[in-house]
Amino acid sequence: MSVPKSEYLSSVWAPGIFANRVVFVTGGAGTICSAQTRAMVHLGADACIIGRNPEKTEKAAKDIAKVRSGARVIGIGNVDVRNFDNLKAAAERCVKELGAIDFVIAGAAGNFIAPISGLSPNAFKTVIDIDTIGTFNTVKATIPYLIESAARNPNPNPNGLTGGRIISVSATFHYSGMPLQAHVSAAKAAVDSLMASVSLEYGPYGVTANVIAPGAIEGTEGMERLASSAVDKKKMTKAVPSGRWGSRRDIADATVYLFSDAGNYVNGTTLVVDGAGWRRQGGNDIGIDEGMEYPDFLFTGQISKNLKDGRKQKSKL
Ligand code: HXC
Repeated sequence: MSVPKSEYLSSVWAPGIFANRVVFVTGGAGTICSAQTRAMVHLGADACIIGRNPEKTEKAAKDIAKVRSGARVIGIGNVDVRNFDNLKAAAERCVKELGAIDFVIAGAAGNFIAPISGLSPNAFKTVIDIDTIGTFNTVKATIPYLIESAARNPNPNPNGLTGGRIISVSATFHYSGMPLQAHVSAAKAAVDSLMASVSLEYGPYGVTANVIAPGAIEGTEGMERLASSAVDKKKMTKAVPSGRWGSRRDIADATVYLFSDAGNYVNGTTLVVDGAGWRRQGGNDIGIDEGMEYPDFLFTGQISKNLKDGRKQKSKL
């Protein structure tokens, strides 16, 4: 069954803004990255999606190609981002078959829930290898093509077309720290830092490098792993100031923005797409008594009666 456009792209973008462009996506069969790829292909791009599982990757590529008549989407399986040679060969194949790599999404990631006491050194290293080293390998394997694309597409380009851009998909929980996620927090913090270095070293070649940091995104493998089915979802949703979990479309739209003519001067930054959720992930509410809940107390105007009020009782005037 085909995925409705409303699930992966909002209606504000002009058709063809990525015409004759190629996007290379690691983890492209996953829930978030397939939506990002679908959006790019819908707007004119061809795509190579990379994954470990050949059947899953090739099936996703065929499905994504359906979003636009004439779209070319190649699924390259048996590629583990931990193996640089695999990735380099995949990038070479992408350029040979589709002609270029204009955009890169470094999206492959690994995650599981475990306390530090339950993490073997190899378990910690595995997530660092997939997320951090995998992003480094993706940058190394594709940067020569991104530099070529940037040279073909001056920024800004009078014709409005773009190229030479890379984003990585990160997370937000390393901003405050999160129990049971020491390995992922360390890995994603390094990913953010690496992308800043990419912007510094390759910005002068015309390449832009940014990070998208999704919050809790509905229906993703990540959230299936992070939130058990028994979790009080209503409570989790209330903790997000925007009042809902994110959608895959939210992340795909952010991707389109950064890769488009509208994102020309955005470089070396992180676009957090989380409804302001990370700002509350510490859970350290102030002015709240037991039984008072965020955001309800804001609507009722209720503030804890047990707070010391520091205001002066009498005016000096
Ligand atoms: C403790 C665990 C573990 C667990 C694996 N390990 N699962 N330790 N608790 N639940 C340990 C193993 O015992 C082993 O250590 C080491 O990790 C490597 O395990 P392998 O199974 O050999 O690794 P591998 O086959 O390479 O698989 C990697 C994986 C797996 C990360 C463990 O889950 C995977 O392939 N994931 C890819 C898909 C995925 O995770 N998607 C979600 C991405 S979401 P020892 O010492 O025994 O050898 C995401 C979102 C983040 O990243 C942000 C969300 C907001």
